[in-house]
Amino acid sequence: MAQRVLITGGAGFVGSHTADVFLEKGWDVEIVDNLASGKRENVPTKAKLHVLDIRSSEAATLLRDGKFDVLVHLAAQMDVRKSVADPVFDADTNIVGSLNLLEAVRAAGGRTRVVFSSTGGAIYGDFTTPPNVETFAKDPESPYGIAKLSVELYMAYYGRIHGLTTTALRYGNVYGPRQDPHGEAGVVAIFSNRILDDQPLTVFGDGKQTRDYVYVGDVARANFLGATRELPPAERLDARAFNIGTGVATDVVTLAHSLERAAGKQVKINFAPKRPGEQQTSFVSIEKAGKLLGWRPEVSIDDGLRRTFEWFAARRATAGRAK
Ligand SMILES: NC(=O)c1ccc[n+]([C@@H]2O[C@H](COP(=O)([O-])OP(=O)(O)OC[C@H]3O[C@@H](n4cnc5c(N)ncnc54)[C@H](O)[C@@H]3O)[C@@H](O)[C@H]2O)c1
Repeated sequence: MAQRVLITGGAGFVGSHTADVFLEKGWDVEIVDNLASGKRENVPTKAKLHVLDIRSSEAATLLRDGKFDVLVHLAAQMDVRKSVADPVFDADTNIVGSLNLLEAVRAAGGRTRVVFSSTGGAIYGDFTTPPNVETFAKDPESPYGIAKLSVELYMAYYGRIHGLTTTALRYGNVYGPRQDPHGEAGVVAIFSNRILDDQPLTVFGDGKQTRDYVYVGDVARANFLGATRELPPAERLDARAFNIGTGVATDVVTLAHSLERAAGKQVKINFAPKRPGEQQTSFVSIEKAGKLLGWRPEVSIDDGLRRTFEWFAARRATAGRAK
């Protein structure tokens, strides 16, 4: 019998690519998504979509009774700025929603492995010197980062006390086809759309602020490996946490030039004042995922940005024809 995975947030960006990978590997894929930002058209035809909120008793019942081998939990309020504006809503979705699912896994006897999407961008905060290693201190600067860290702490607790098998993948800034402008790598979507509109790009500060941009197909593959590889013993918080990035810091101006090459046209860059509170440098060490999950990113930043830009361009062309 095929193995079964439930993917929350499977109508979203990372979730839909993750669903593709599990389907390719012959798994049965079911999805829970309330379509808050996800779209039906992202859901692969072979996957079964349940339009449910992760905070609902229906979602808990589905997970408890569904005999899933794996839960890949990606559904979230994922906008850092929104978490600052409304931390209660953020915590309700990102902490209480996650607890609802962990309790359902416990109620079902704990046989479902949990793979959780945490963040390597927002969890370590500003007091470390990158590249951030999994065991570095965590001092999240936003309610979003605090919620991700809280869920990791709960998962460590569920592992130790209730024997659940859990792993947290701390993604860098994920970009690729189907991304929207609100995510941690939103700049790629924003710049792509500006270039397609023949508009100048706005860079805040000196443009030297760096991020660890990781291609969505590589992240989806990491989710599959997190779901299927043997994990180290559950001990401290970080024992089963893995950074999923590239280990490379890319600055905003370099990113803009790479998109310019992908578009094959010159783009004007305007500089605007630095935004308060913006992190200057952020990138992660990926040695642990290489050693223990056998995962390495395969798509270079230039190649990934080209694929992403082409996707935005093709979407424009289709929308244009539909008018
Ligand atoms: N994109 C990134 O750069 C990045 C970086 C680090 C971590 N992450 C994490 O990865 C996960 C996926 O992010 P994404 O970029 O694909 O975002 P996304 O918004 O495309 O996907 C999230 C999905 O969750 C769904 N959702 C939201 N609230 C829900 C609820 N209460 N019940 C059910 N479904 C709900 C949305 O409709 C959406 O389809 C998130 O947990 C995010 O925090 C993303």
